[in-house]
Amino acid sequence: MEKTNKCYVTTPIYYASGKVHIGNAYTTVACDAFARFERMMGKDVRYLTGMDEHGLKIQQSAEKAGVTPLDHVNCIAAETKELWKNLGITYDDFIQTTEVRHTKIVQKVFEQLLANDDIYLGHYEGDYCVSCEAYFTKSQLGEGNTCPDCGKPTTRVSEESYFLRLKKYAEPLLEYINTHPDFIQPETRRNEVVSFIESGLEDLCVSRTTFTWGVPIPSNPRHVIYVWIDALFNYLSALGYGSDDDSNYQKYWVNNDKVCHVVGKDILRFHAVYWPIMLMALNIPINFKLYVHGWILMKSGKMSKSKGNMVYPMDLAARYSVDAVRYYLTKELPLGNDGLFSYERFVERYNNDLANDLGNLLSRTVSMINKYFKGSLSNEIENTDFDAALEEVLKVNVDEYKNEMDSFHLQNAVGKINNIVSRANKYIDETTPWVLAKDESLKAKLASVMYHLAETLRIVSDIVAPIMPSVALKIRASLGLTEAFDDLKTLEYGYKYQNNVAEKVEPLFKRVDLAEELAYFEAQSKAKEVKKEEKEEEKIPEITIDDFAKVSLKIGEIKECKKHPNAEKLLVSQIQIGNETRQIVSGIAKYYDPTELVGKKVVVVTNLKPVKIRGVESFGMVLCASDENDLELLEVKKLENGSVVR
Ligand code: MSP
Repeated sequence: MEKTNKCYVTTPIYYASGKVHIGNAYTTVACDAFARFERMMGKDVRYLTGMDEHGLKIQQSAEKAGVTPLDHVNCIAAETKELWKNLGITYDDFIQTTEVRHTKIVQKVFEQLLANDDIYLGHYEGDYCVSCEAYFTKSQLGEGNTCPDCGKPTTRVSEESYFLRLKKYAEPLLEYINTHPDFIQPETRRNEVVSFIESGLEDLCVSRTTFTWGVPIPSNPRHVIYVWIDALFNYLSALGYGSDDDSNYQKYWVNNDKVCHVVGKDILRFHAVYWPIMLMALNIPINFKLYVHGWILMKSGKMSKSKGNMVYPMDLAARYSVDAVRYYLTKELPLGNDGLFSYERFVERYNNDLANDLGNLLSRTVSMINKYFKGSLSNEIENTDFDAALEEVLKVNVDEYKNEMDSFHLQNAVGKINNIVSRANKYIDETTPWVLAKDESLKAKLASVMYHLAETLRIVSDIVAPIMPSVALKIRASLGLTEAFDDLKTLEYGYKYQNNVAEKVEPLFKRVDLAEELAYFEAQSKAKEVKKEEKEEEKIPEITIDDFAKVSLKIGEIKECKKHPNAEKLLVSQIQIGNETRQIVSGIAKYYDPTELVGKKVVVVTNLKPVKIRGVESFGMVLCASDENDLELLEVKKLENGSVVR
């Protein structure tokens, strides 16, 4: 079978636990641009995306929603498919890990790994984060045994488990990485993986008995298969690997030199270590390249529901168009590094790059062709002094664009399109068509300017099509082009125009006012906050006066206060309450210096069960009020310590 001219591109499959935000959408939009590009390069492309539907987190979110896990995941899959349709995602296959075509392969490979002793039965004890579906060692945990990734509390788990032998494959994997320098890109991520492997691999726990929502191990159905092991195999089960018809597996995996997994940095270890090790153990060729992108962050950090800083792609698209969102995503995130999302930056890019540079180039060009040549483009032209320079910029940037796309440097590729557009705008200023138009003897030169501008836009429409497909079609329609797109392999200057350009074009993007837009988003986010607060208030159940009386609140005076010896965020105070002095640990070090607290008379919960916090005992709790940014202790001025609060 021919080994080239094919491309298998995959996104990670999305957790079926919530709505996709612009951060998650990045991978899928980027892969879509990439898949469209490869198709336009004449490749036989298979683009896979889908849903990761097992695990405790999903079981719990289904319970919360009061539906069965299967109904829950099917509902999220339908919503996600709708989103991809709206964002113009041209996937060829959408896999759900609850589908039989997937689960039966996962079971088959698990049993095979077990039979080969690459998986064995052992015993596991550890700290597990439900939200990240990952185990952590004690030294990795954050303060108060919290998850180092998401900060949520972890749970101590002890169970009989199956383990995948990672240690056995550490050396062969390092050897593979060393002999395939382009396996993991960019290099910084590759180095990260190498040092992770070199620091020593522990065998990986690959089964669970504490919940049931997963793929059962056929030979021991009390266990379900660890969700990551299950999920990673989607890349092969979707191709029919191990099934009666594995022709797609042969075609797009085995006999293919362009298999691309595109993932965010948070799931690097799973794709760069566990996945290739399983492939090695199963004698499946590794045969893929891993492109690792950074994260889209907000000024306030990671996007999260609790912070209320989520940005959803269709909210932006409804206001600025789908293509503007696709443009922003592909333009803003350099491969490997994080990128910051801000509405300000979004609107600036929209106004400058899209409405001004590209939009104006098209409307000026079409209106000049109408004004000076009644809409027709003459092929009989006399070159101006500036044409060669524009042609050169076109040629160089198209070549560079193809190279950048080929190596998944989308941001750089978009930059090449921008270079062409700004050069063409400059070309209008250089050639001053309005001056040429005044002199009949310069008509052929004017025709050359119009022809060059049309050619630039035709070529831009081709190379912009993977990024902004609707805009690309609008440009072509405005130029009177009837063929869909040109073959990118043979794309070059010199098209013979048959048709007139459109008589009029609607602006590709309508310019917006930055201050107005920012005010709009500010109002939106305030409205969301109010809704959230109302919801939270609704959630707290009413209590009776007897319930309240169960809490003993008294005024205490802080006599001494020190930093906690083992935790930066905590202070340890000695507080006098009437005749007794109590030691109380509080998480307020970020807001108060220990010395400024001495002498303050604060409200203390005195009948709280004593606890040890990071090795220091605490007998009660000091009351504070807080908002997103600040925190204040509740104080009294006149009353003596020991006074009762009621
Ligand atoms: N279900 C796993 C993948 C299993 S693949 C065998 C998963 N799902 S996810 O929904 O959490 O993430 C989907 C993709 O979005 C991942 O590539 C992840 O890295 C990416 N991103 C999640 N948040 C992101 C940003 N804020 N910015 C950019 N990409 C982000 O991981």
